[in-house]
Amino acid sequence: MKVLSGIQPTGRFHWGNYFGAIQQYIALQDNEQAFYFIADFHALTTVRDRDLLKGFTQDAAIDLLSLGLNPEQATLFRQSDIPEVTELTWLLMTLTQMHLLEKCHAYKDKKAKGLAADAGLFTYPVLMAADILIYDSEVVPVGLDQVQHIEVTRDLAQRFNTIYGREVFVLPEARVLETTAKVPGTDGDKMSKSYGNIIEVFHPTPKKFRKKIMSIKTDSKTVEEPKDPESCAVYTLAKLFSTSEQLEELAARYRAGGMGYGDAKQYLYDRAMDYFGPAFEKRAELEQKPGEVEDILQAGAAKARVKAQEVLSRARDACGLAIHK
Ligand code: TYM
Repeated sequence: MKVLSGIQPTGRFHWGNYFGAIQQYIALQDNEQAFYFIADFHALTTVRDRDLLKGFTQDAAIDLLSLGLNPEQATLFRQSDIPEVTELTWLLMTLTQMHLLEKCHAYKDKKAKGLAADAGLFTYPVLMAADILIYDSEVVPVGLDQVQHIEVTRDLAQRFNTIYGREVFVLPEARVLETTAKVPGTDGDKMSKSYGNIIEVFHPTPKKFRKKIMSIKTDSKTVEEPKDPESCAVYTLAKLFSTSEQLEELAARYRAGGMGYGDAKQYLYDRAMDYFGPAFEKRAELEQKPGEVEDILQAGAAKARVKAQEVLSRARDACGLAIHK
């Protein structure tokens, strides 16, 4: 099975990214093809600062490797190291109907807020389609918010194949995990940078991490009062790290009263530290080896590019453009 996914370097990864997507990258990395890339072309629609983008991209690579992405199995690369992808974007753009893009969330939401959208944001799903189609990807592990884009990708692939009368592109499928398709943030809404409700996976120190967990908003019930676990963000987040027995026990403590929110937060902090502790240690090691990380990205790009060139040639040929050997 050919697996592919991408993630934007627009800041530090949060629990939504990890449980919705990155966890799947790792589970699927021993497939025939497992291509994972850092979507720095896409990030240009929001990050417009040279040093910031370089830093975020480097951090993204280190974070993925620390979380268990194994470069001996998976191919990790930067999107912008594969220039063929922008060429394929153009080929696809020539047959993308406007209405298909007008209904895409990122653009629609920005317009609804009365904000000016640029052509980059509008055509963002076409670049994403090119990312997927250029590697003959069959399965795309993502969170729920990306499913619409994969539908657009299928539409474009189908349209191209029909117009040119050849099976140039494979139609990909989204892979979404039922329980973590839409990880909630510290306010119960979908965890998202733009909502200001995220918890980052990596923090500079355990103290800062603890502070972040302690800052999760709760209602103002006293320690003695019984509490409703299901309406509490701390409990909802604890689900990510707990076994069903642990959860039942925690829920019982909520309902019985006598447990303050501080205790629930301490529980969440302890579970998250247990879970991510090994990744924190790995990250501290990898930070000392920027050269090694860069080598991994370049080796990954060299491998991915071979496949991209093959598929792009197929597409150029189908359209009647020259093929470059
Ligand atoms: P991005 O960078 O916004 O998010 C990366 C991945 O994290 C998932 N995710 C979540 N999953 C569950 N709950 C949440 N609260 C949550 N927040 C984020 C996203 O669904 C995504 O899987 N356009 C893409 C990047 C991209 C891409 C691609 C993905 C570019 N080309 C080709 C797949 C294939 C994006 O902005 O993801």
